[in-house]
Amino acid sequence: MNFKEELKNYAIIVDKELEKYVRKNDCLEKKLNQSVEYSLMAGGKRLRPTLILATYKLFKNDTKVCMPYAVAIEMIHNFSLIHDDLPGIDNDDFRHGKPTNHKIFNEATAILAGDSLLNNAYLIISENLKNNLTKENIDSFYELSYAVDRMLIGEYVDTEYEGKQALIDELEYMHKNKTGALIRSAVRIGAILANVNEEDLINLTNYAEKIGLAFQIKDDILSEIGDEKVLGKPVGNDRKRKKCTYVSKYGLEKAEQELEKNIKEAINCLEPYGEKAEFLKDLAIYIGERNK
Ligand code: IPE
Ligand code: IPE
Ligand code: MG
Ligand code: MG
Repeated sequence: MNFKEELKNYAIIVDKELEKYVRKNDCLEKKLNQSVEYSLMAGGKRLRPTLILATYKLFKNDTKVCMPYAVAIEMIHNFSLIHDDLPGIDNDDFRHGKPTNHKIFNEATAILAGDSLLNNAYLIISENLKNNLTKENIDSFYELSYAVDRMLIGEYVDTEYEGKQALIDELEYMHKNKTGALIRSAVRIGAILANVNEEDLINLTNYAEKIGLAFQIKDDILSEIGDEKVLGKPVGNDRKRKKCTYVSKYGLEKAEQELEKNIKEAINCLEPYGEKAEFLKDLAIYIGERNK
């Protein structure tokens, strides 16, 4: 299987798992369920669950223990996107090539759909914990909760800095939290569930922190020069809202250099794993080259 096929394969596995949790019941909250499904099944790349599974597979094969976390992290990611697009935050009208959640439903429903995704993620993890109270599961639960806290801090800082000039350290702090934290936790959860030693956990955390920052730098670049049709979300909105980004701070060329630097450093972290880490290496390259 080549990289693209493998990436697609992971997304298919995650989609199938997510489908199991989509509520279809015809009850008073039918619209809320539809709103959740609208965003959750809208065709995201499934990067975070893929990272959990691929990191785990560096060490072990049967990925069953990863599944509750794969589902939960994708639910949490989609919660963050629904809320990120709300009028009070980024006020965006399009995502995944379709109107944003609050545009199709209404603001109240979009807020509650986000809340519901966040809480259902924890419900799935705690149900899993009830049946499998292992150290790996407790540690993974902590990783995820910690990351969500950091993500929310990052989102807050992002809104707070609109129209202001951030220092380089502040910008990095914002990006590492709003986007880096969940990506970092995905890799760490995969590693923790595979029961890796301390050295591997450190190596892989370093890899994750580099691709996490790179992912948001690329998001900043795509918001400036991406192709709206491919990207599925508006181009130029960061500029319009006077967001602090790597592009507004450094300019395009230097932002590209920072992106490349982080990707290279990420790949270096994988050296001890040789060919086994080929997919994670290609994933780092993909993060730098992606156009959606
Ligand atoms: C977009 O994340 C929001 C950021 C954290 C930059 P993704 O680009 O991973 O979102 P989807 O789910 O694939 O659309
Ligand atoms: C999104 O950051 C980060 C989270 C949702 C946590 P952005 O606001 O920069 O991402 P897009 O461009 O809307 O996807
Ligand atoms: Mg935002
Ligand atoms: Mg946004």
